[in-house]
Parts: sequence; C-alpha cells; structure tokens
Amino acid sequence: MYHPDYTIKKEPYILGIESSCDETAAAVIRGRTLLSSEIISSASEQAKFGGVVPEIASRAHTEVVSEVVLRALKSADITADRLDAVAVTYGAGLLGALLVGLSFAKGLTYSLNIPLIGVSHIRGHLAAAYLVDSELKPPFMTLLASGGHTAILLTESYSSFRFLGGTCDDAVGEAFDKVARVLGLEYPGGANVERLAREGAQTVRLPSALVKNSAHMQFSYSGIKTAVINAVHNAEQRGEKLNPADIACSFQHAAIDPLVKKTVECAKAASVGVVTAGGGVIANGYLRDTLVSACRKANIRCVLPEKCFCTDNAAMIAAEGLIRYLAEDFSDLSLNASARVALV
Ligand code: KG4
Ligand code: ZN
Repeated sequence: MYHPDYTIKKEPYILGIESSCDETAAAVIRGRTLLSSEIISSASEQAKFGGVVPEIASRAHTEVVSEVVLRALKSADITADRLDAVAVTYGAGLLGALLVGLSFAKGLTYSLNIPLIGVSHIRGHLAAAYLVDSELKPPFMTLLASGGHTAILLTESYSSFRFLGGTCDDAVGEAFDKVARVLGLEYPGGANVERLAREGAQTVRLPSALVKNSAHMQFSYSGIKTAVINAVHNAEQRGEKLNPADIACSFQHAAIDPLVKKTVECAKAASVGVVTAGGGVIANGYLRDTLVSACRKANIRCVLPEKCFCTDNAAMIAAEGLIRYLAEDFSDLSLNASARVALV
C-alpha cells in the first residue's frame, strides 16, 4: 500500500521481525549494511517434545518479542523513531506464532507512522545473500534448502524467480530431521546429523535424491528416509548393528551431492556467473564445502550467507524488506498471517 506521506530514503533503517517457528528474532539494517541481529529461541523447550509445539512457540514469542526488538535497536545503537520501515514475516509458518510478530509490527508501524512490509519467509531466505555482498545483483542461480522447501531457482530480478526444479515430496531439511529421529538424535536434528556424519564413512548404500528419468529436474527425499529405516531394520534382523555415523555420512552424501551438482549445472546452463543459497540446510558444513569447491571448479562465484543467517533469523527478513521498500511495495494494516505462501 502506497502512502504519499512516506518519504523514501536510499539507505533506510529497516527493522526485521521473524516469528514463524520457534525463533523470535529481530534485526536492524541500514541499506544493505547489517547493524544488529538478535534471536531468542525456544528450541531447548521444544526439544523435550521432539519437535515444535505450536502453543509453546506462540507463548514464547509473546513473552520475548518486545525484548528481542529492544535488543536489536540497542545493538544497532538507534532508537525506534529512527526506523523508516518494519518488515515482518507474515507466512509461511505456524499461524499463532506468526500472529505475534505480525501484530507487534503492525502496532509499531502504526505508532511511528512508517510503512509495514509483510514478507514471505521463503523470500527472506533468498534475500539473505544480499547482506553478504552489497554489490550483488541478479541474475544468479539460487539453491533454497530449508525445513519446508528444496528448490533450484534462477533469480531473474530482485522480485522474479524461475523455478527450475525441486522436491516432489519431503524437503531436504525435513529428511535430515526424520533421519535424526531414526538415529535417536535430539531435535533440531539437522546439525546433529552433520556432527555425527563427520565421524562416519559413506558405506551404506542409499538411493540418490535425484529422481532418474524424470521429464523435469526433480528431487525426492522420502525414499532416502525410508531406505535409511530399511537399512537399520535389515541389519537388526541379521543381528548386526550399522554404525550410526556411517548412516549419517551416507545419508548426507545422498541428500546433498545431487543438489550441489544440479545447482552448478543449472548456473552453467543459464550462463550466470554467481550462485547463492539460503535456508537452514545451507548451514551444513559439508554442503557449503562441496558447493564452494564445485563453483570454484566451474569458475562461478559462490555467495553464501554466514551459517547464522541461513537458519531462521530476522536479518534476512529486513533484507527482503529493503527490496520491497525501494519498490514502494508496502502492506496494509489488515494484512493477515498465512500458514502457506507461494514458493516464489
Ligand atoms: O530455514 P530453517 O531454519 O527453517 C525453515 O524455514 O524450515 O531450516 C530448518 C531446517 C531443519 O530441517 C534443520 O534440520 C535444517 O534446516 N538444518 C540443517 C542444519 N542446520 C539446520 N540441516 C543439515 N545440516 C545442518 N547443519
Ligand atoms: Zn526458515
């Protein structure tokens, strides 16, 4: 929604707020410069239940949202009246959780008479790369790998994307979490599978995540997860026990290798010289290393957000907020939370 009384600045101060799952986060940017990023997580409380309990997440957000925003303003060394806009995640995610951040942002923008920018969490993950390199400009190839999404996208402009391929079932992060559970590792599982994989070898035969003979580029993760379960059961029936570290290592290869290979192939085919990535799974050290080295071999520049800006954070929401602010693409105060949003 455009308001004639908003003065558009080139280097605006933007507050980002994120509360779609179990992290309450706030961050301040000025232009593409990150000034602060604060997170208060309820993950340890959730770990007791083996996953995110929506009610607990919503209440935890309610308790800490003002605190996390105050911390972000303080670390950025500004007061709220310096803000030029507030960007907030409106979806996808847990409705009750989203409503806490969204309602807080609405109140703040209303009282400060500044624009509200409702941001898609997925777009936020994609925008995280802009904070790494202030000169980064589309077009480039982007690998999105999170708990909810897995896709290779051609980022054509700041606001248009071409979907080149993605998962036909589970997301890669979801598969990491499920395999973690099979291996008896604590929630959140992805980082624990990665840790265990470092002590193992690729000795368990698992199907690749790339769907063969498909007309379009497609990945499947439910098959690998089932293959892991079957491998564990079959070994048990033979009276053997597979080394959990070997399972973790083999799974990591099967899940990640095809994503890296295809992302670089797509960049080459599209003749773009840059690859970016976003989403929680991009925090995986093995994925980062293999993507960086595959890009180097192909003479492609790889722009990866730091690990803490791959998993859920508010800096990425502010980064997408900046794109929308400069396009004067604001939201109305009637904006509602949405459990699902379109991929791009
Ligand atoms: O982006 P994110 O924080 O939340 C969503 O938007 O989904 O991604 C969370 C996902 C979880 O599935 C988690 O297991 C996975 O990212 N993840 C990882 C790692 N850190 C987080 N997967 C593999 N290795 C990691 N180090
Ligand atoms: Zn996320």
